[in-house]
Amino acid sequence: MNLIHPIQTSRTVMRMVEPGDAQRLLRYRVQNREHLAPWEPLRDKAYYTLDHCVQTLAESREAIRLDRSYPFFALDLAGNEVLACFTFANIVRGAFQACHLGYGISAAWQGRGVMQEVLGAALPWAFGGLGLHRVMANYMPRNERSGRLLERLGFEREGYAKHYLQIAGVWEDHILTSRIRGVSRDD
Ligand SMILES: CC(C)(COP(=O)(O)OP(=O)(O)OC[C@H]1O[C@@H](n2cnc3c(N)ncnc32)[C@H](O)[C@@H]1OP(=O)(O)O)[C@@H](O)C(=O)NCCC(=O)NCCS
Repeated sequence: MNLIHPIQTSRTVMRMVEPGDAQRLLRYRVQNREHLAPWEPLRDKAYYTLDHCVQTLAESREAIRLDRSYPFFALDLAGNEVLACFTFANIVRGAFQACHLGYGISAAWQGRGVMQEVLGAALPWAFGGLGLHRVMANYMPRNERSGRLLERLGFEREGYAKHYLQIAGVWEDHILTSRIRGVSRDD
């Protein structure tokens, strides 16, 4: 596997999370608490503490080592502020070579094309560097921003799953989409 990174885009530099990122992860969580809450699982108070961020990053590094999940930050060009987070998660190898993609951008950077810029550069890496064949991404029907983003990135609708994920405490239906290597785009 070619795990070389960071990857630079015109407005960001993206790289896998590192143990030294706890403070910047905490800042991202605290600053975007209300912005992200409708689209994520319920978080308890501990989630907004430095200890929890340290633990998350340790678990992330272990998941990378085990080829289970690849969590990334997209940072400003100086490498300080987290603009967006995304993860190639639930990696399955063998005959499937697939994963789920999760993502979110800070409120301050939403609506500027940055998430598209970031994922547009990260997906070729997932197909090339990680050798994946299928990247799946699912969204709630009312998350229109997410649906538009996926469509622009070449994801295609594959189905509709009832009560698929527990988001903000409620089992929510999701639209299932995926992008397949060499099918939707030149990967
Ligand atoms: C889903 C989410 C990542 C989408 O972020 P986004 O900033 O809208 O996505 P993009 O980077 O594709 O930006 C596109 C928007 O920027 C606008 N834009 C402005 N400048 C632009 C530029 N230079 N290039 C491209 N688009 C630009 C586009 O018009 C578009 O706005 P529109 O959708 O209102 O037409 C974001 O809403 C988010 O983090 N939501 C909360 C978490 C979440 O829902 N995660 C996904 C769960 S499935």
